[in-house]
This record gives sequence, C-alpha cells and structure tokens, in this order.
Amino acid sequence: MGVRDQDCVRFLQAYLPRLGLKWAGYRKVRRTVCKRIGRRKRELGLSDLAAYGRLLEHSPEEMARLDAFCRIPISRFYRDRAVFDALGDTLLPDLAERAAMRGDREVQCWSAGCASGEEVYTLRLLWDLAPQPSHPNMRLAILGTDADEVMLKRAAAACYPGGSFKDVPADWSERAFTPDNDTLCLRPEFRRDIVLRREDIRAQQPDGPFDLVLCRNLAFTYFAGDLQRRTLAAIERCLWPGGLLVLGAHERLPAEAEAFVRESAALPIWRKPAKKKGGPR
Ligand SMILES: C[S@@+](CC[C@H](N)C(=O)[O-])C[C@H]1O[C@@H](n2cnc3c(N)ncnc32)[C@H](O)[C@@H]1O
Repeated sequence: MGVRDQDCVRFLQAYLPRLGLKWAGYRKVRRTVCKRIGRRKRELGLSDLAAYGRLLEHSPEEMARLDAFCRIPISRFYRDRAVFDALGDTLLPDLAERAAMRGDREVQCWSAGCASGEEVYTLRLLWDLAPQPSHPNMRLAILGTDADEVMLKRAAAACYPGGSFKDVPADWSERAFTPDNDTLCLRPEFRRDIVLRREDIRAQQPDGPFDLVLCRNLAFTYFAGDLQRRTLAAIERCLWPGGLLVLGAHERLPAEAEAFVRESAALPIWRKPAKKKGGPR
C-alpha cells in the first residue's frame, strides 16, 4: 500500500527543511515525491513513515536518497515561449554584442538544473536556426548542470518523446532531429559547444563568468528562503555585469535581490547592472 496523502504531507513538511527545501514548492507536485517515498518504504519493509523518519535520523545515505526523491524532472523544449522568443529575437543578439565589445568570441551560458537537456538544446537551436545570425563569428557555449545522473545521461543521449516538442517553432523538429523508434534524436551538429556536468547547485557553482544564466523551476520554486538568497548571490558572482538571469514563468527573485534589475515587466528575466569600469566580478 502507498502512503496516505496527509501522512506524506506531514512527513514532507518535517523533512524538506532539512534538505534546504520548502513545502510550498512541493504542494502541487507532492504526488510524484510521495510515490517514490512509498515505494522506498515498501522496499525496506517499514510499517509507516515514522519508521522511515527514524531511519533517516541516523543514515546520511538514506537522507541523500530522500533528497534525490525530491528532484522534479519535468521539462520540455521552448518551455515558456515568450521567454525564448525574447531570447532569440533580441536578448541573445544583445549579449553577443556585449561579448564582442569585450573582445570575446563566445557568449557563455549556464543552464542550472538542465534536466534531460531540453533547455540547453533549445538555446543551441535558437542560436543555430536563427533566420539571420546577428553575429556570425560569435560562438554560443553552453554549460548544463544537474544534480541527477539519470537526467544527465538522458541529456547526453538527446532523444525525446513527442510531448517534449509541443512548444517548439514549426520547423525545428524537421530541421534538427532524426526519428528513432518513438523518439526524435537531436542531430550531432547541434550538440557542439555544450558541456553537461553533474553539480548540486547548493554545494558548488561553475566559475563563469557567464553572459546568461537560466535557473528555471529549481531554486526559486523548491529551495527555502535562505538557500534561495545564497544561490542568487552565487549566480550574481558568476554573471558578467550586464548579464541576464532567466527564471521560470511563475518564479520571482527573493525580495532583497537588489543586485538585479528586471528586464521586462512581462517576463521573468533580470539583468545584473553593468559596471562602468573593472572586471566581471
Ligand atoms: C523541474 S526541472 C527544471 C528543468 C528546466 N530548467 C526547465 O525549467 O524546464 C528541475 C531540475 O533540477 C534538478 N535539480 C534538483 N535539485 C538540484 C540541485 N540541488 N542542483 C542541481 N540540479 C538540481 C533536477 O534533477 C531537475 O532535472
């Protein structure tokens, strides 16, 4: 038998804070997490969640497993159309212009919590399939990080079911993917200049500096306030002045995020103000 919703809710309310996570972020997706916990309870032959809680108290390995149960893997290509339209139409060309002014030949992007790679490859395709390349000599380099090994393996395989494409521009799947059984696989020429790496954003962040950071449907939905603020400070450190931070459609920055200026009232995009003089940090 699975776990009862009310028992699972109580359990999550007690244990999510121990992982730096917050209950409010999990309210809508708790069934996924509760199913995983119920399965684990059965595997261990435990009578109830209280027994699982007792096990967690003296098993860091089991706590790490619970942490993994709390990862929500949902993603798709071009998720939040207006955001990617804005990136393709004006924001990526603007970041390319800023990189060119610095004397760089690369626009550096980081997708934090990249899941199975949909967001990383959406950036790649926005750049490669742009009707008119704004900066033909500029490269787009993308780092995708995720805490979950399974997600990263899927990202490296780059094959996706039809549902992953419901928001993409009409000709993308034909131009960039090859059918393989029930999936569409990204052609190798669209996988270049991409690095995928396992990293838990709570413990480590890449050095950067980046022109663009996408941290969507992760820290600003699931992390507790304090951890959100620390994550934001880490993102700020690794962004170029004038660089952009993109969140999920329903996410907001913590109230004290004074270091960022909202780029557009309608879109979840913020800019780290440009400095007049000096380096990236
Ligand atoms: C809901 S998905 C978001 C995917 C994509 N960013 C999007 O918005 O479509 C959240 C991803 O974050 C990953 N994740 C969860 N906790 C993480 C952490 N502490 N560090 C890095 N990635 C994490 C999960 O494994 C999952 O792939």
